[in-house]
Amino acid sequence: MQICLKNAASFVKADALKQLESATEAANQLLENGKGAGNDYIGWVHLPSSITDAFLAEVQACADELRKRCEVVIVAGIGGSYLGARAVNEALASAFDAFVAKDRKNPYVVYAGNNIGEDYLAELMEFLADKQFGIINISKSGTTTETALAFRLLKTMLEKQVGKEEAKHRIVAVTDRAKGALRSLATKEGYKTFVIPDNVGGRFSVLTPVGLLPIAVAGGDIKALVKGAQDMEKATDVSVKYAENPACQYAAIRNALYQSGKKIEILVNFNPKLHYFSEWWKQLYGESEGKDHKGIFPASVDFTTDLHSMGQWIQDGERSIFETVISIEKANKTVLVPMDAENLDGLNFLAGKRVDEVDKMAELGTQLAHVDGGVPNIHITFEKIDEYNIGQFIYFFERGCGISGYVLDVNPFNQPGVEAYKKNMFALLDKPGYEEESKAIKARLAK
Ligand code: PA5
Repeated sequence: MQICLKNAASFVKADALKQLESATEAANQLLENGKGAGNDYIGWVHLPSSITDAFLAEVQACADELRKRCEVVIVAGIGGSYLGARAVNEALASAFDAFVAKDRKNPYVVYAGNNIGEDYLAELMEFLADKQFGIINISKSGTTTETALAFRLLKTMLEKQVGKEEAKHRIVAVTDRAKGALRSLATKEGYKTFVIPDNVGGRFSVLTPVGLLPIAVAGGDIKALVKGAQDMEKATDVSVKYAENPACQYAAIRNALYQSGKKIEILVNFNPKLHYFSEWWKQLYGESEGKDHKGIFPASVDFTTDLHSMGQWIQDGERSIFETVISIEKANKTVLVPMDAENLDGLNFLAGKRVDEVDKMAELGTQLAHVDGGVPNIHITFEKIDEYNIGQFIYFFERGCGISGYVLDVNPFNQPGVEAYKKNMFALLDKPGYEEESKAIKARLAK
């Protein structure tokens, strides 16, 4: 993995960036010594190096059991309890995996509990009606409405389809070690469970069973993934000074840009398989930094697709943005552009070239155009899309986020703002315990 700041550093004052260099080293030290805000939730910092082979074997054995029994596995979870697994699975699978029915090596993995769409749930249940399916139910609090609702529906359906005893072997709960409705339910029903450590918050939990189990079920190599994260843990360790530390460099430049008025960071990829990584990254940075009326707004685009929709704005709109481009050095597969005798489409100038070469020139051309247009460009390169590089990717962005949040002077590990909509929703739905709020909200709406 490499990070290049050249096309971003030219947009900020050299002394401002210099000051931030030492600020990021100090912030990295806070992650290490646990003296920063939210220090109950920094268990992710040394999580990769603490993962043992025995633990990975336990996760793999559980995944193998689900793979044996099920043609479809539903991952029920929301936010930090699903985005990481989905990001990895969609990056590793064929883009057309959902349509491949014959000779499948892996079960279909589908997602639920991340919305309250009645049509979505009805269509999921229609799809499952003639399938052998299982459920991984993931919720740290064990009380998240979206996830609990989907799980109630799917559990009821599964028990009707295969009986309570078989259902027990096809349901796994990933939750808190002791607290929450999901823990009580799992204990009562006798489900296999995995623990989300107390000191790892949802959006930092992809390297716990929250991510590892669904990734192993989908056929991903979790050992290689963890190895990538372990290597990145070393590369971003507190002992590694700014000049060599990519997480410190990323945190410094994005804070320097923010201080100079660039309020929006757009994560850019040139590979559609990375779409869900952007969704994961947006939660990681948005929920960690967007507080106390501060924080860069994390946005994302998939190029070249979105050059034909958002390209105009990025090139020419308000100059409050910067881009962080995730560049993948090598495509995993090879497709050559064929020669055509008639050349009616005028594409013979590309004949014999790899499609990836065309994509790379689009990437370079876009970078030059956007920098010329006043958009700072942070460039991050990973060798290829595989488990090892993805493990690096995940940990790099986690570490960068922790450091960046401390530099911004917020608590990067809480999310108090997420509760506001829940309180109103529960009041509107007359949830027991919300009687006062219910009266108040109804009076407000009646005005
Ligand atoms: O990062 C977070 O804390 C959140 O995104 C949670 O992961 C999300 O709200 C789901 O919560 P839970 O796992 O408790 O169901």
